[in-house]
Amino acid sequence: MVASIALPRLMRVGAGASRLLPEVLGQLGLSRPFVVTDPFLAGSGAVRTLTERLVAGGVTPQVFSETVPDPTVASVDAALAALEAGDYDCVVGFGGGSPMDTAKAVAVLARHGGPMRRYKAPHLQDEAGLPVIAIPTTAGTGSEATRFTIVTDEANDEKMLCIGLAYLPVAALVDYELTLTKPKRLTADTGIDALTHAIEAYVSRRSNLFSDGLALQAMGLIAPNLRRVWTDPGDRAAREAMMLGATQAGIAFSNSSVALVHGMSRPIGAHFHVAHGLSNAMLLPAVTAFSAPSASDRYAACARAMGLKVGSGDESAARALVDELRALNDDLDVPSPREYGLDAGKWEALIPTMAEQALASGSPGNNPKVPTAEEIAALYREVWAG
Ligand SMILES: [Fe+2]
Repeated sequence: MVASIALPRLMRVGAGASRLLPEVLGQLGLSRPFVVTDPFLAGSGAVRTLTERLVAGGVTPQVFSETVPDPTVASVDAALAALEAGDYDCVVGFGGGSPMDTAKAVAVLARHGGPMRRYKAPHLQDEAGLPVIAIPTTAGTGSEATRFTIVTDEANDEKMLCIGLAYLPVAALVDYELTLTKPKRLTADTGIDALTHAIEAYVSRRSNLFSDGLALQAMGLIAPNLRRVWTDPGDRAAREAMMLGATQAGIAFSNSSVALVHGMSRPIGAHFHVAHGLSNAMLLPAVTAFSAPSASDRYAACARAMGLKVGSGDESAARALVDELRALNDDLDVPSPREYGLDAGKWEALIPTMAEQALASGSPGNNPKVPTAEEIAALYREVWAG
C-alpha cells in the first residue's frame, strides 16, 4: 500500500513560536494577512500581542474576531464578507478549532466561491485557496496540521466535513505558551480530543506506518500529562508535551483517519451543542470497549504507548486501556450526557437519526469493528448514564 501523506510546508514548534509570524509571512512571500480569531481571544489581549508584532514588522493586518464555536455557514459567510471588503493574500487562523476551521473555509471560499455546502465530502478540494497560517491556542483539535475543516449547516444541524489539500495550512506556529492560561474544562476536553485523535488514527483501518509512529508518540506525550495540566495549568513541561502531542495526533489522523468515536460524536455536537472534545470524552471508554476485541493487539499497543502498567497479554492490556479511559473521565470530571443535563426524551428520540448520521459520515467504516446502526444505537443508550 502507498500511504498518501500531506503536511504543512513549514512549522515552528516551541515556546514563543507564535512570535515568529512576521518572519514566517516574509519567508512565504506574504504581506496582507486576514486574521481570523474569536471574541474571547480578541478580548484577552492575545490578538493585540499578535497584531502589534505584525505592525512593528510593517504589516497591517485586518482582524475578524466574530467566529463562533462549531462554525456555521452564516459565520463563515460573515468572515468572507469582511475578507472581500479588503485586499488580502493569506488567512491567519488564531485560536482553537473553530477559528482555524473558519480560516480554512474562508480561504477556500475567497478563491473558489460558495456556497459552503458545495464543498461537503465526498467533494475533494485539493486546488488551493488562499494560503492559511494556523496558530493553535488549544492543545486539542490538531487542525493546524490537518486537511479537513468542519462547518455546520444550521438549516439542518448537519456538521459538514470538508476534505482536501486546500484546507491544509501552509504553515503552523505551535506555541504551547498560548495554552498556559487555558480554562480547566477546555484543557480537559481538548486534551481528550487529542488523545482520541491519536488512538483512532492508530486503530483505524486506514492507518499506515507513517501515521502509526506519530500516533504512538502523541499518546506517549498526551496520556501522562493530561492530569498534570488539569491539576496545575501552569505546568510548562506538561503543557509543552500536550501541545506537541496534539499537533502530532492531528498529523496522524489527517494521514490516517478518525473512526467510530468521532463518527458518533459529531451528531451529539450538532443536535445538542456539546463541545466536540467533551462529546468524544463521553463516548471514548464505551466505544473502545466495543472495538477492542476486534483489534486487541492495536489497542494493547495504545495502552503501552500511554505508559500504562500492563503485562504481556494483548487482551488484558486492551482491557487496561478501557479501565484507564474510564478513570481519566472520572479524574477530569467528564459528565455523562444525562449528568450534563441533556434532555432524555430528545436523546432517545434522536438515537436512530444520530446513528444514521454517524454511519453516513464514513468514520465508523474505518473502525476496527465496523458497527451496524443497531450497534451504534446501543452504544448511544449505553453512554447516556455513563
Ligand atoms: Fe476531534
